[in-house]
Amino acid sequence: MPELTTYNLQHTTKTPFKACLFDLDGVIVDTAVYHYKAWKKLANELGFDFTEEQNEHLKGINRIKSLQLILGWGGLEMSDAEIQVLATRKNEWYVEMINAMEPNEILPGSKELLHSLRVAGIKIALGSASKNSSIILKKTGLADLFDAIVDGNVVSTSKPDPEVFLKGAELLNVTPQECIVFEDAVSGVQAGKAGGMKVVGIGTQEILKDADLVVSGLHEITIEQLKSL
Ligand code: BG6
Ligand code: MG
Repeated sequence: MPELTTYNLQHTTKTPFKACLFDLDGVIVDTAVYHYKAWKKLANELGFDFTEEQNEHLKGINRIKSLQLILGWGGLEMSDAEIQVLATRKNEWYVEMINAMEPNEILPGSKELLHSLRVAGIKIALGSASKNSSIILKKTGLADLFDAIVDGNVVSTSKPDPEVFLKGAELLNVTPQECIVFEDAVSGVQAGKAGGMKVVGIGTQEILKDADLVVSGLHEITIEQLKSL
Protein backbone atom coordinates (compact mmCIF):
# COMPACT_ATOMS: atom_id res chain seq x y z
CA MET A 1 0.00 0.00 0.00
CA PRO A 2 1.39 3.44 -0.92
CA GLU A 3 2.37 5.63 1.96
CA LEU A 4 -0.11 8.40 2.68
CA THR A 5 1.24 11.86 3.13
CA THR A 6 -0.72 14.41 5.08
CA TYR A 7 -0.30 17.94 3.88
CA ASN A 8 -0.95 20.69 6.31
CA LEU A 9 -2.41 23.33 4.03
CA GLN A 10 -2.47 26.77 5.50
CA HIS A 11 -5.04 29.05 4.00
CA THR A 12 -4.20 32.69 4.15
CA THR A 13 -7.13 34.95 3.47
CA LYS A 14 -6.26 38.07 1.56
CA THR A 15 -8.39 41.16 1.99
CA PRO A 16 -9.22 42.39 -1.50
CA PHE A 17 -7.98 45.93 -2.02
CA LYS A 18 -10.57 48.63 -2.51
CA ALA A 19 -8.49 51.78 -2.49
CA CYS A 20 -5.12 53.21 -3.49
CA LEU A 21 -3.45 56.04 -1.60
CA PHE A 22 -0.82 57.92 -3.57
CA ASP A 23 1.98 60.09 -2.36
CA LEU A 24 2.50 62.97 -4.81
CA ASP A 25 6.11 64.27 -4.93
CA GLY A 26 8.33 61.62 -6.52
CA VAL A 27 5.48 59.16 -7.18
CA ILE A 28 3.04 60.86 -9.53
CA VAL A 29 5.17 63.84 -10.50
CA ASP A 30 8.89 64.51 -10.47
CA THR A 31 8.69 67.37 -7.94
CA ALA A 32 11.10 65.63 -5.53
CA VAL A 33 13.81 67.07 -7.79
CA TYR A 34 12.44 70.61 -7.35
CA HIS A 35 12.34 70.24 -3.56
CA TYR A 36 15.98 69.11 -3.65
CA LYS A 37 17.04 72.03 -5.89
CA ALA A 38 15.31 74.62 -3.71
CA TRP A 39 16.65 73.24 -0.40
CA LYS A 40 20.16 73.01 -1.89
CA LYS A 41 19.99 76.64 -3.00
CA LEU A 42 18.98 77.68 0.52
CA ALA A 43 21.75 75.62 2.15
CA ASN A 44 24.32 77.04 -0.30
CA GLU A 45 23.20 80.59 0.57
CA LEU A 46 23.72 79.72 4.21
CA GLY A 47 27.25 78.55 3.39
CA PHE A 48 27.04 74.75 3.28
CA ASP A 49 25.88 71.88 1.08
CA PHE A 50 24.27 68.48 1.54
CA THR A 51 24.36 65.27 -0.44
CA GLU A 52 21.77 63.38 -2.44
CA GLU A 53 22.00 60.67 0.20
CA GLN A 54 21.09 63.18 2.92
CA ASN A 55 18.28 64.40 0.68
CA GLU A 56 16.64 60.93 0.91
CA HIS A 57 15.90 61.75 4.57
CA LEU A 58 13.94 64.85 3.52
CA LYS A 59 11.51 62.98 1.27
CA GLY A 60 8.05 62.74 2.79
CA ILE A 61 8.98 65.03 5.68
CA ASN A 62 7.08 68.31 6.06
CA ARG A 63 8.62 71.68 5.27
CA ILE A 64 9.64 72.81 8.77
CA LYS A 65 10.97 69.39 9.81
CA SER A 66 12.99 69.25 6.58
CA LEU A 67 14.52 72.65 7.30
CA GLN A 68 15.36 71.67 10.88
CA LEU A 69 17.22 68.60 9.56
CA ILE A 70 19.10 70.69 6.97
CA LEU A 71 20.13 73.32 9.53
CA GLY A 72 21.38 70.50 11.74
CA TRP A 73 23.57 69.19 8.89
CA GLY A 74 25.01 72.69 8.50
CA GLY A 75 25.57 73.00 12.25
CA LEU A 76 23.30 76.06 12.43
CA GLU A 77 20.88 76.98 15.17
CA MET A 78 18.02 79.36 14.39
CA SER A 79 15.03 80.77 16.21
CA ASP A 80 11.51 79.71 15.22
CA ALA A 81 10.99 83.11 13.57
CA GLU A 82 14.16 82.71 11.46
CA ILE A 83 13.11 79.18 10.52
CA GLN A 84 9.77 80.50 9.25
CA VAL A 85 11.54 83.14 7.13
CA LEU A 86 13.89 80.57 5.57
CA ALA A 87 11.10 78.04 4.94
CA THR A 88 9.08 80.76 3.19
CA ARG A 89 12.07 81.68 1.03
CA LYS A 90 12.58 78.07 -0.05
CA ASN A 91 8.88 77.71 -0.72
CA GLU A 92 8.84 80.79 -2.95
CA TRP A 93 11.56 79.24 -5.16
CA TYR A 94 9.76 75.91 -5.13
CA VAL A 95 6.38 77.44 -6.03
CA GLU A 96 8.04 79.31 -8.90
CA MET A 97 9.28 75.95 -10.23
CA ILE A 98 5.96 74.13 -9.87
CA ASN A 99 4.04 77.02 -11.40
CA ALA A 100 6.06 76.42 -14.55
CA MET A 101 5.13 72.71 -14.61
CA GLU A 102 3.35 71.20 -17.57
CA PRO A 103 1.14 68.10 -17.91
CA ASN A 104 4.04 66.25 -19.59
CA GLU A 105 5.92 66.28 -16.26
CA ILE A 106 3.63 63.59 -14.90
CA LEU A 107 5.81 60.52 -14.27
CA PRO A 108 5.44 57.63 -16.77
CA GLY A 109 2.45 55.39 -16.10
CA SER A 110 0.84 57.61 -13.44
CA LYS A 111 -2.11 58.81 -15.47
CA GLU A 112 -2.66 55.38 -17.03
CA LEU A 113 -2.69 53.64 -13.63
CA LEU A 114 -5.06 56.23 -12.12
CA HIS A 115 -7.41 55.78 -15.07
CA SER A 116 -7.40 51.99 -14.95
CA LEU A 117 -8.00 52.00 -11.18
CA ARG A 118 -11.04 54.21 -11.72
CA VAL A 119 -12.34 51.91 -14.41
CA ALA A 120 -11.87 48.94 -12.04
CA GLY A 121 -13.90 50.75 -9.35
CA ILE A 122 -10.94 51.23 -7.00
CA LYS A 123 -11.09 54.43 -4.95
CA ILE A 124 -8.18 56.86 -5.09
CA ALA A 125 -6.84 59.35 -2.54
CA LEU A 126 -3.83 61.59 -2.36
CA GLY A 127 -1.69 61.21 0.78
CA SER A 128 0.94 63.92 0.61
CA ALA A 129 2.84 66.04 3.12
CA SER A 130 2.84 68.96 0.71
CA LYS A 131 0.91 72.17 1.24
CA ASN A 132 1.33 72.85 -2.48
CA SER A 133 -0.51 69.79 -3.80
CA SER A 134 -3.41 71.76 -5.30
CA ILE A 135 -1.06 73.82 -7.53
CA ILE A 136 0.64 70.63 -8.79
CA LEU A 137 -2.62 68.76 -9.44
CA LYS A 138 -4.02 71.79 -11.27
CA LYS A 139 -0.90 72.33 -13.40
CA THR A 140 -0.76 68.67 -14.40
CA GLY A 141 -4.51 68.28 -14.93
CA LEU A 142 -4.79 65.34 -12.49
CA ALA A 143 -7.12 66.80 -9.86
CA ASP A 144 -10.30 65.13 -11.17
CA LEU A 145 -8.80 61.64 -10.85
CA PHE A 146 -8.84 61.72 -7.03
CA ASP A 147 -11.82 60.88 -4.81
CA ALA A 148 -10.17 62.48 -1.79
CA ILE A 149 -7.22 64.77 -1.16
CA VAL A 150 -5.25 64.57 2.07
CA ASP A 151 -2.24 66.87 2.12
CA GLY A 152 -0.05 69.00 4.37
CA ASN A 153 -2.89 71.48 4.87
CA VAL A 154 -5.06 68.98 6.71
CA VAL A 155 -2.69 66.79 8.74
CA SER A 156 -1.05 67.72 12.01
CA THR A 157 1.80 65.19 11.96
CA SER A 158 4.54 64.34 9.46
CA LYS A 159 5.24 60.92 7.94
CA PRO A 160 6.31 58.35 9.31
CA ASP A 161 3.17 59.01 11.35
CA PRO A 162 0.34 57.18 9.52
CA GLU A 163 -2.17 60.05 9.98
CA VAL A 164 -2.10 61.15 6.33
CA PHE A 165 -2.99 57.66 5.07
CA LEU A 166 -5.46 56.80 7.86
CA LYS A 167 -7.34 60.02 7.04
CA GLY A 168 -7.39 58.99 3.37
CA ALA A 169 -8.84 55.56 4.21
CA GLU A 170 -11.45 57.19 6.43
CA LEU A 171 -12.51 59.65 3.72
CA LEU A 172 -12.80 56.81 1.21
CA ASN A 173 -14.76 54.77 3.73
CA VAL A 174 -12.44 51.74 3.58
CA THR A 175 -10.33 49.94 6.20
CA PRO A 176 -6.52 50.32 6.21
CA GLN A 177 -6.24 46.62 5.27
CA GLU A 178 -8.17 47.39 2.08
CA CYS A 179 -5.66 50.06 1.03
CA ILE A 180 -2.46 50.05 -0.99
CA VAL A 181 -0.07 52.95 -0.49
CA PHE A 182 2.37 54.16 -3.17
CA GLU A 183 5.46 55.90 -1.78
CA ASP A 184 8.96 56.99 -2.79
CA ALA A 185 10.08 58.02 0.70
CA VAL A 186 11.42 55.84 3.51
CA SER A 187 9.27 57.87 5.94
CA GLY A 188 6.23 57.33 3.69
CA VAL A 189 6.75 53.57 3.45
CA GLN A 190 7.00 53.49 7.25
CA ALA A 191 3.79 55.57 7.52
CA GLY A 192 1.87 53.15 5.31
CA LYS A 193 3.13 50.10 7.20
CA ALA A 194 2.38 51.80 10.56
CA GLY A 195 -1.17 52.34 9.30
CA GLY A 196 -1.57 48.61 8.59
CA MET A 197 -1.56 49.02 4.80
CA LYS A 198 0.24 47.28 1.95
CA VAL A 199 2.94 49.51 0.49
CA VAL A 200 4.38 49.70 -3.01
CA GLY A 201 7.73 51.48 -2.94
CA ILE A 202 8.71 53.62 -5.90
CA GLY A 203 12.50 53.56 -6.09
CA THR A 204 15.02 50.93 -5.08
CA GLN A 205 14.82 47.89 -2.81
CA GLU A 206 18.04 49.00 -1.17
CA ILE A 207 16.41 52.20 0.14
CA LEU A 208 12.76 51.17 0.49
CA LYS A 209 13.46 47.97 2.45
CA ASP A 210 10.13 47.81 4.29
CA ALA A 211 7.86 48.02 1.22
CA ASP A 212 5.84 44.94 0.18
CA LEU A 213 6.87 45.47 -3.44
CA VAL A 214 9.37 47.87 -5.00
CA VAL A 215 9.20 49.11 -8.58
CA SER A 216 11.04 51.89 -10.38
CA GLY A 217 7.83 53.67 -11.36
CA LEU A 218 4.07 53.41 -11.68
CA HIS A 219 4.47 52.31 -15.32
CA GLU A 220 5.59 48.92 -13.97
CA ILE A 221 2.38 48.30 -12.02
CA THR A 222 -0.65 46.30 -13.13
CA ILE A 223 -3.93 45.82 -11.25
CA GLU A 224 -3.36 42.04 -11.32
CA GLN A 225 -0.06 42.54 -9.50
CA LEU A 226 -1.77 44.71 -6.88
CA LYS A 227 -4.41 42.01 -6.30
CA SER A 228 -1.67 39.54 -5.39
CA LEU A 229 -0.16 41.71 -2.65
C1 BG6 B 1 6.60 65.95 0.56
C2 BG6 B 1 8.01 66.00 0.03
O1 BG6 B 1 5.77 65.39 -0.40
O2 BG6 B 1 6.14 67.26 0.86
C3 BG6 B 1 8.92 66.73 1.01
O3 BG6 B 1 8.48 64.70 -0.16
C4 BG6 B 1 8.34 68.11 1.31
O4 BG6 B 1 10.20 66.83 0.44
C5 BG6 B 1 6.91 67.98 1.83
O5 BG6 B 1 9.12 68.77 2.29
C6 BG6 B 1 6.25 69.32 2.09
O6 BG6 B 1 6.07 69.99 0.89
P1 BG6 B 1 5.67 71.52 0.74
O7 BG6 B 1 5.29 71.63 -0.71
O8 BG6 B 1 4.49 71.76 1.64
O9 BG6 B 1 6.84 72.33 1.14
MG1 MG C 1 7.28 61.56 -2.13
